[in-house]
Parts: sequence; structure tokens; C-alpha cells
Amino acid sequence: MTARTQLASWQALTLHAQSMKQQHMNDLFAADAQRFDKFTVQLPEFLLDYSKNLLTDETLDRLIALAKDCDVTGWREKMFNGERINKTEDRAVLHTALRNRAQTPLFLDGENITEAVQNTLDKIQHFSDKIRQGLWKGYSGKRITDVVNIGVGGSNLGPQMVTEALKAYSDDSVNVHYVSNVDGMQIASVLRPLSPENTLFIVSSKTFTTTETMTNARTAMNWLTSASFSDSAIEQHFVAVSSNKINAAAFGIKEENIFDMWDWVGGRFSLWSAIGLPIAIDLGFDNFLDLLKGAHEIDQHFCQAPLAENAPVIMALLSVWNCTFLGFRSQAILPYDQTLHMLAAYMQQAEMESNGKSVTMAGEEIIYPTVPSIWGELGINGQHAFYQYLHQSNNIVPADFIGSIESITPVKGHHETLMANFFAQTKALMQGVNEEQVKADLHAKGRSDDYIKKVAPHKVHKGNRPSNTLLMDTISPKSLGGLIALYEHKIFVQGIILDICSFDQWGVELGKGLANEIQQELESATTFNVHDNSTSGLITHYKKSKQLA
Ligand code: F6P
Repeated sequence: MTARTQLASWQALTLHAQSMKQQHMNDLFAADAQRFDKFTVQLPEFLLDYSKNLLTDETLDRLIALAKDCDVTGWREKMFNGERINKTEDRAVLHTALRNRAQTPLFLDGENITEAVQNTLDKIQHFSDKIRQGLWKGYSGKRITDVVNIGVGGSNLGPQMVTEALKAYSDDSVNVHYVSNVDGMQIASVLRPLSPENTLFIVSSKTFTTTETMTNARTAMNWLTSASFSDSAIEQHFVAVSSNKINAAAFGIKEENIFDMWDWVGGRFSLWSAIGLPIAIDLGFDNFLDLLKGAHEIDQHFCQAPLAENAPVIMALLSVWNCTFLGFRSQAILPYDQTLHMLAAYMQQAEMESNGKSVTMAGEEIIYPTVPSIWGELGINGQHAFYQYLHQSNNIVPADFIGSIESITPVKGHHETLMANFFAQTKALMQGVNEEQVKADLHAKGRSDDYIKKVAPHKVHKGNRPSNTLLMDTISPKSLGGLIALYEHKIFVQGIILDICSFDQWGVELGKGLANEIQQELESATTFNVHDNSTSGLITHYKKSKQLA
């Protein structure tokens, strides 16, 4: 047994889960007319309704007791105060300091990092304004019309998800593009319509060692210098965001064109830092600041709201309840707002890279299910693809439904159709349709008894499928900032409850190291043959087919 499973609150929840598995949400709603009022939290820019979960007052009390036993509030304080809670990398976790709009000083190793953050924000403002106003010139004296962000994972997903979501806020003074994949097809198709004279590259890499990013950045540099016929063009066309200034400078980027990044900011939590530079360039610095403000509001809610009214705490507890105690091991993210079409991909990294682990902070093997696999798609598209599975498969998938009251691009008649589906789906997943209802419906439609007997079992929907509903006022820089911060804190609390170090990613490092070794082998005529039989066989086949061996 690990420490968590020895807690009385944990054991009580294990027992409670056995009895809750016998319950149907229809009965819970029938028994309690206050369920919606009880199980909703109103936040500054959106409402969280978690009443369509398999929970009662007792469940919530028991989950809160678990949060207290796991010292969530103590850990929260440690994080905000800059203690080194990223134990395996011996680092503080301070993405909240990047959006500390109250500007309270925070000292880390003797340095006031609030000041350092403000200096970088000033640099972002100055630079993004210059680009947007056409004052930053390329090597031939022309203005920059296109910015290409080269980065992967946290150095790509955050900025790209945000600029896609907030397209309506862009004045299109600059076109922003993203290259993340080392598959040459992506950079080739991004660069094809662009002109080197008007293009600026942001090389975004916290470590400045990521092979995919470095390969893309080198290709971009060659593309530029083969058009400009001079290496000096690099200083007008390349900036970097990195905590590894030495590597960035060695790569050829001028020191003053390097934006700071700090080791106390994890890649997947970094869009609030200079990694968000493409956001400021695309949407303007004021909108970037609003994004930070929205996140800061949720930081305050997270720090101040009692646990039982604290949205990120509740979302984390529900995730643990659904996955660890009820055994639902996957979770869908279903935005009903076109703007959020990259949200599921973003959340996959945020949650799975953070908490997809199987040892405790102390390094002991975890014996309980930890976090679900996260997947998702725009709701409407999903409805006509995989929702069949959500409604009727024997694998229950709790889902987060995210929609907005006001569309930011209203087109007459569209939004109500969209939102009607949004509300209908959570209702259908929860209520289902039982055999009696199906038969009555088929009788009413005049179907024969034979037909009803044959078809009725296929039309039964058991329902009782949990969902959270996040109803945003509208998609804006502030509400989006808040939404992302909400999930960040959910992930943090989830990690604490599950006793996981949420801020490392050793699982990614293993593959990176192996890829580097294999690349050398692919580039050499000899086969090193140090692999298992399958990997060696595949490499040999690959090289032979390409006549490399
Ligand atoms: O994908 C793994 C990862 O280490 C992420 O955590 C990180 O966001 C990404 O690689 C990119 O890393 P870097 O910014 O150092 O290039």
C-alpha cells in the first residue's frame, strides 16, 4: 500500500464508490431539486456546472476530506511561494508569477522575479509593437509581414492554440505561422508562399537542444541566407525564446534578440512567458495582457475560494473520483466553439505530460489508476464521428463540454443550433433512454411487435455518463486566460491528490535519447545492431529500401 491508500478518507471513498456505482444520476436529480445550484461555481468569465457527475453531497464532503488529508492548501502555498516543488528537477514552479498582475514582489534565490518578469513583458511589448507597426525592418529595408514560430510541445501548442482561438481579435497587421513538426513537409509548405525579405522567425525552445526545433531552425536559416546572400540578415530575421542563452547565441542569434525564459517555468505552462511572443505579435500586447489578467483572476480564485467552492480543486477531485475510484480511464474534451479547435491537443500535453506517471513523489510504484487518457475534438464534429461510443459503448468516458453564451463571430441562426446540441448532448449522456421508453416510442410510431423486439435493445442508452459543463460568457483573451489557468490548477491539484510529481517529463526524455542514437545509425552506412530484433529488422529494412545499406 502507498501512503495515499492508507488515508482514512481514501479508504472511505473506495467504499463509497462501490455504493455510488449502483446509483443513477436520474435518481440523484429526482431526489434533489437544488442539484444545479449546489454543484455549480460561478467564475469571473464562466460558469462550471458539475452536477452531471455521479456524486452526492456525501461524495463531495469525502473528496474535500481527501484534499485536506493531502494538504492541497499547503502545496498550493508552496507553489505560489516559489518552493522547489518540482522535486525530481529541483526547481520551483512559478508560471503563476508570469501573470502576477498584482505585481507583488517574489524573491527566488535572492532575485525579485516579479521585476525580471516585468522586464521581459516590457521587451515583448516593445518588440511586438515594433513588428506590428512595421518599424522592424528586414535585410532589404522592408517591413515584416510574416512571423514563423518554430517550436514544439509547450513551445508551440500554447501560442498556437491561443492565436487560433482569438483570431477574431487579430487585426492581421502581421501573419503568424507555426512550424512544429520535423517532417519537412510542414516547413516547406509554410515557407512556400513567404518572402524571406518580409519574414521573421521566432525560435522557441526552453532548452535550445530539441532536435526537431533545431533542424527546422537551421532549414529556416538556410532559406533566409540563400536569399539574402549574407549571414548578417540573421539578426534582423531571427529572435529566440530560451533559458539556454549560450546555445541560442551559438546558433547565431544576437544576444539582444534572445527573450528570457526561466527554469521555474515548465514548457507546457509557458505561454504566459515570452513563449507567448507570437500571441502578442498577432493580437497586440494589450490582448496578451488581458490573457494574463484572466489567468491571474483564476489564480486568485484558486488561492482564496474555500475548497468546496474552488473550481480547479473540484475539477481535480472529480477527475480523481471518476478515474481512480469509479474506474473511468479516459476523458474527452469537447469544445462547442470553433475557436477552441486546438484545445484538446493543448490539454493532452498539459495533463498527460504532467500526470501520466506511475510512481509517487517518493518514487514508489503507484497501485491505483492515475490520470485518464485525454482526447477530444470539436463537439459538433465529434457528434458525427465518435459520440456513438460516448453514448453506448461499455467504456464510460467522462467529458468536459465547453461552450459560449455569445459567439464572437455571430452568424444568424447558427449559434442556437450549436448550443442546442451542446445542451442536448450532456442531457442525453446523463439521462439516457431505458427499454420501456424505447418500446413506448416505437409503439407510438406504429412499429410491429416483432420489429420492437428486435430493435429495442439497440436503442437503449443507459445514460449515467458524467460530464462537466463550462459555459463561457464569450471567448475573449480574458476568458481564455482564465480557462487555461483553471485547467493548469486542476492538473496541479490532481497531481497532489495522486502523489505525483507533475512537473517533470522523463518519459519524453527516453525517446529523445534513443532517437538521437538511431539518427546517427540512419546517417551511417553501417548498422550498429544494438537494438532488439524488431527495431534492428526495421532499421535494416528502411536502409536497404533506401539503398543506404
Ligand atoms: O515534448 C517534450 C518536451 O520536453 C516538452 O515538455 C516541451 O514543451 C517540448 O519538449 C519542447 O521543449 P523545448 O522548449 O525545450 O524545445
